[in-house]
Amino acid sequence: MSATINTVIIGTGSYIPENIISGNEFLNSTFFENGSRLEKENSEIIHKFSEITEIVERRYVCPDQLSNQIGAKAAEKAIQNAGIDKETLDYIIFCHNFGDIPLNSNRIDVLPSLASKVKQQLGISNTDCVAYDIIFGCPGWVQGSIQADYYIKSGDAKRVLVIGAETLSRIIDPHDRDSMIFSDGAGAVIYEGVNQTEKKGILAHKTETHALHHGGLLTMGKGSNPEETGGNAYLKMNGRKLYEFAVIQVPQVIKKAIDKAGLTIEDVNIVFVHQANGKMDTAIMKRLFKLYNLDTVPENLVPMTISWLGNSSVATVPTLLDLVLKGQVKGYNVKEGDVAVFASVGAGMHINAFVYRF
Ligand SMILES: CC(C)(COP(=O)(O)OP(=O)(O)OC[C@H]1O[C@@H](n2cnc3c(N)ncnc32)[C@H](O)[C@@H]1OP(=O)(O)O)[C@@H](O)C(=O)NCCC(=O)NCCS
Repeated sequence: MSATINTVIIGTGSYIPENIISGNEFLNSTFFENGSRLEKENSEIIHKFSEITEIVERRYVCPDQLSNQIGAKAAEKAIQNAGIDKETLDYIIFCHNFGDIPLNSNRIDVLPSLASKVKQQLGISNTDCVAYDIIFGCPGWVQGSIQADYYIKSGDAKRVLVIGAETLSRIIDPHDRDSMIFSDGAGAVIYEGVNQTEKKGILAHKTETHALHHGGLLTMGKGSNPEETGGNAYLKMNGRKLYEFAVIQVPQVIKKAIDKAGLTIEDVNIVFVHQANGKMDTAIMKRLFKLYNLDTVPENLVPMTISWLGNSSVATVPTLLDLVLKGQVKGYNVKEGDVAVFASVGAGMHINAFVYRF
């Protein structure tokens, strides 16, 4: 068998913001729905929220931190972990949706690109290292990885850094109880093209965009507090419809990626799924196994961080990968030859997945 270029992970890093926001932080919030104040006690709302999402706490950045800065921190760790010269990076792809939002500014800053800001902070002088951003909802980091795979397999690029970072705490509506899902974080991964006869790294991928009927499930919208007169300043979702969409569609896209790799679910050792919410992720995995006529999802297949990290959008999957590879998710590790699935879903609505052999 002749050698081909494989896209393999050579380094990972993450940045977990230090401010731990427990449910109690919302005890004094005023929640509204459809123009009226919710009658339930906040303690009851918070308890119910944890029950239906499995989220107990989440992380927010410090007042002076921005997305580009936490992205740079994760990137620095990934470069260190890979043990490479940063000047050898061919691309820096920064995946986010809201750019930098200074505290209380409600203004999105995306100029220059966050990837350019990271390149500047890392002190990379090589002008052949191309830095740009992609906006692709929560599946941004998975899509950035798929782009990296295309660049590397074309032979044009050798090393690509893909960052996923978001500060959702700056864009959520404090009067919407669904906002308790969201958090801040950053993860980064370096891919390298390696000539090998054995098929390793990214084996196959699949992406879909369901815009026509589902583009309105996650959008910018007005605040829930009827007294607020501002425009579409907040991240809003139709949680129930989103849940129904994801549970039906995501398993099918994951299966298409596994099919493209010429494998079956029983070949998969670990699944890095977007930490959207615990209940939804469990339902997605159950449906995925059902597509293979299997009734049970094996234990220790799906590492989860949702209970203590919440949903940090583009950052969940690379952060989860970094924590597993560094032995920080109890009961989970990967060994040479293991097959992983990476999958995500979010605003667009986009769904994507790739299959990877370690
Ligand atoms: C938002 C979401 C948590 C709501 O859960 P749900 O089970 O669909 O909620 P329902 O509307 O059926 O309501 C069920 C109960 O939960 C309550 N509830 C709904 N949303 C709630 C919230 N955010 N916090 C607290 N309680 C909530 C309802 O009041 C209802 O309570 P009751 O049984 O006492 O009447 C859920 O739809 C969801 O997780 N959607 C996907 C969101 C997501 O993953 N977004 C990110 C995508 S990248």
